[in-house]
Amino acid sequence: MSVHIAAQKGEIAKTVLQPGDPLRAKYIVENFMEDVRLVSQTRNIFYYTGLYKGREVSVGASGMGAPSIGIYSYELYTEYDVDTIIRIGTCGAYTPELKVFDVLNVENAASESTYAKFAWGIEEEILSHQGNVFSVINDTARNLSLDLKTTNIHTSDIFYRKNPGTPEIAVKHNCTAVEMEAFALFANAQYLGKNAATLLTVSDIIPTGEFISADMREKALTPMIELALETAIS
Ligand code: HPA
Repeated sequence: MSVHIAAQKGEIAKTVLQPGDPLRAKYIVENFMEDVRLVSQTRNIFYYTGLYKGREVSVGASGMGAPSIGIYSYELYTEYDVDTIIRIGTCGAYTPELKVFDVLNVENAASESTYAKFAWGIEEEILSHQGNVFSVINDTARNLSLDLKTTNIHTSDIFYRKNPGTPEIAVKHNCTAVEMEAFALFANAQYLGKNAATLLTVSDIIPTGEFISADMREKALTPMIELALETAIS
């Protein structure tokens, strides 16, 4: 057990898929995996371990925002000896050049967040994916003939804001989209010498207001989920 995860040591696989939403974790294991066990439900943040094509993978939620993914990813890496975390989330596009349903592999995450600085003394405002899992994802996407875009994104602490438009930090670092977790995940992985990647499905286009309706979302995420699972076993 760790502070926020009730699983016993050994009950979590070396590779963890981490959606933001606990119900998405449940959806993934129920629809894509076999022999699944619920290994933690502390705070309703479900963690499951099961088999994908005969290989053990864990799936569990991060919650929303840097503080939450900071806690869960740190405990997974340090208390459960997890090697690799693949975040699988949604994002808002800053540019209409991206389309809803596009799948992005995050190269770098830029953030105004002080998480990396005050947690680990990492001063940079832009952090890279960690280890080789980013390139394994790219290779796997090619093998699946899945159209995957690599890009920089903005990790923001803010969902609702007064001023519309693309924030300065996103313009500065060519961030095409925004989400709320990748920067803290990359910071933890960098500090701990672990592997981390972030896959995102574009769920809304901020300048046009277009979005994937709630009832379409689960289906919309299928290519990203399959890509993450295939990467986890490769
Ligand atoms: N902002 C932040 N995170 C998001 C968004 C957004 O517009 N869409 C999906 N995740």
